Amino acid sequence: MFNIFGNNQSSTSGQQNSNNAPAPQPDDNMLIELKGIQKEYKTDAGPFLALKGIDLKINKGEFVGVIGKSGSGKSTMINMITGIDRPTAGEVWVNGTPIHKFSENKMAKWRGTNMGVVFQFFQLLPTLTVIENVMLPMDFGNKYSPRERREKALDILALMDVETQADKLPTMISGGQQQRVAIARALANDPPIVVADEPTGNLDSKTAAQVFDLFQKLVEQGKTFLMVTHDDDLAGQLSRVITITDGQLDKEDHRPIQKIVPHSQNGADTDKEEEIKEAQLEEVS
Ligand SMILES: Nc1ncnc2c1ncn2[C@@H]1O[C@H](COP(=O)(O)OP(=O)(O)O)[C@@H](O)[C@H]1O
Ligand SMILES: [Mg+2]
Repeated sequence: MFNIFGNNQSSTSGQQNSNNAPAPQPDDNMLIELKGIQKEYKTDAGPFLALKGIDLKINKGEFVGVIGKSGSGKSTMINMITGIDRPTAGEVWVNGTPIHKFSENKMAKWRGTNMGVVFQFFQLLPTLTVIENVMLPMDFGNKYSPRERREKALDILALMDVETQADKLPTMISGGQQQRVAIARALANDPPIVVADEPTGNLDSKTAAQVFDLFQKLVEQGKTFLMVTHDDDLAGQLSRVITITDGQLDKEDHRPIQKIVPHSQNGADTDKEEEIKEAQLEEVS
């Protein structure tokens, strides 16, 4: 059985994954809300507004993709949701908590148990071995006893197919392996929310598809995922993909990728649907 964490979060998994007609979502289903988020960076050329008023709601159990050109503000927006950086204006609510008001210390503590973060550039600690990197959030999280931690970390590394690298330093393994270790670290405390910035960007397409499958299984188990991706194949498999352009979200229902017809529900010609899907994917790539 797949559930490595030995728990069952399916009570929180959303009906929004089903193909049935959408029922109105009560607000207590909402997990993440950005309200009027602006982010200004100070640069030598003067202030630069990287996010220009982002409003976004994500429900429990959703798997949301984020796409957009390089420099459009994807990582900046992700950093607002993880609390790695602070908005210049606006509010970030996660699970009913206004995290934009947290001190840095409180934020780090809160993130440690509530959110797994996969950074675009891994950010593994270079002086710790692979397994120590994965155990570090466990040491802060207090979810597992010290005796359990090594075994849990090895399980997660095995899931990412890098358990044989456990005692190496990050510099001794490939970029793709480092990326998988970074994903393992994000899953260390079995967080209900995972936010991943291009988590498959350094993986070959087969490994990327395996990691994506794993993410989907975790979503089926009740986790909520937000994933920045450049990969149209992966984005095309998600029921919700948001596009960011020059620091603003595009209107979701105007995206061609949203119109992809899901698997046939009424015996319609699925070959035809595949053709439409392929044509639409070409249109957006
Ligand atoms: N720390 C920073 N200081 C100044 N400008 C920044 C900083 N981080 C990002 N930017 C700028 O903000 C814009 C959005 O960046 P980013 O969120 O990294 O985009 P993306 O992840 O979509 O490629 C870019 O123009 C980038 O140059
Ligand atoms: Mg980025």
